[in-house]
This record gives sequence, C-alpha cells and structure tokens, in this order.
Amino acid sequence: MAPILDEHSLEFISRSSEQTQRLGARLGALLRGGDVICMEGQLGSGKTCMAQGIGRGWGASQNLISPTFVLIREYERHEDPVKLQHIDLYRIGDADEALGLGLDEVLGNEYAICVIEWAERAQLLIPPEHLWIRFEFISRNRRELHFLAQGERHTHVLRQFRRDAFGA
Ligand SMILES: Nc1ncnc2c1ncn2[C@@H]1O[C@H](COP(=O)(O)OP(=O)(O)O)[C@@H](O)[C@H]1O
Ligand SMILES: [Mg+2]
Repeated sequence: MAPILDEHSLEFISRSSEQTQRLGARLGALLRGGDVICMEGQLGSGKTCMAQGIGRGWGASQNLISPTFVLIREYERHEDPVKLQHIDLYRIGDADEALGLGLDEVLGNEYAICVIEWAERAQLLIPPEHLWIRFEFISRNRRELHFLAQGERHTHVLRQFRRDAFGA
C-alpha cells in the first residue's frame, strides 16, 4: 500500500526488515551526487536497515555498517568519483558540533550522496533540498515510513521511486 498524498509525499507500512532494505535498494539505484537523504526515527526503527539497502542499490563496493561510533563513513563504487556518505548524528549534541566534525564539507557537495540518520539533530545544517524519511515503530516487524521531498530534484527522485517500488 502506498497512499499518494501529493507528489512530494508518500507513506506506507513496511512489514519486514527485508522489505525496508529492498525499498532502500530501489531508492539507492536512483541517487546521484548532491542528493541528501535524511532519516528520522527512534532507535531500532529501521534507519540503518534502509541505509544498507540504499548502499546496495547504489552499488557500494562494501556493505554499510552502522556508523554510530564515528560520525561519517564513506563508501565508493567502481569508477565513480561520487562517494556515498553514511552519516549518523546520534551522538552529536547540536549542529555546531556537527560542523566541527566536517559535516558541512559533504552536505551539498556534488560528489557526495549523503544518507543521514538522526538528521533532525542537525536540522540547521540540512540543505533546503532533500528527501526526508520518518520512521515510526508500529509493532515488532512493522514500521510506518513517511517520505517528504523538498525541491525539484528530490521530488523527481520520489516520483521515480514510487513508480519503481509500487508501479504507481
Ligand atoms: N519493517 C522493518 N523495517 C526495518 N527494520 C525492521 C523491520 N521489522 C523489524 N526490524 C528490525 O528492527 C531493527 C532496526 O534496526 P536499525 O535499522 O539498526 O534501526 P535504527 O538505525 O533506526 O536504529 C533491526 O533489528 C531490524 O531487523
Ligand atoms: Mg542506526
């Protein structure tokens, strides 16, 4: 199920971690340098699971692991100057701290795809154009996912994602 609210938003319920990963892979396949994917949701709601799918779909040469103990982990794929930056802001206090850790160098960089967990912790640093994904815990295996696209490029990505994932 994928209720279409308007062209900027989408929501659905994932019924397994595999489903969340598969959806992530569909999204990852569409990404290019400069794209910013923000993820918000409590611990265990599926952000890393989705990020792992994104890495797989994009074609990262290594599996993504949770970057919780470092702020950023960089991934590459064959013969592409663009890097996938997996960012986890769980441990930062505020946006200033994230700046000090170099987040501003990758956000909005045309050679970086940024996938950010706990993005709400550095809201001030997030570029105005992004795709925001909010995860809500429903039950052990169910997570409600809300997508909200800001800006033309990310709205295009969401539209294509909806087509690829749901045929709608
Ligand atoms: N539908 C689902 N989508 C994503 N994860 C799920 C789902 N159902 C169960 N899970 C489980 O929830 C946990 C999500 O963990 P993780 O992705 O690390 O969350 P976060 O990064 O948000 O803290 C995993 O243990 C995963 O197997
Ligand atoms: Mg995580």
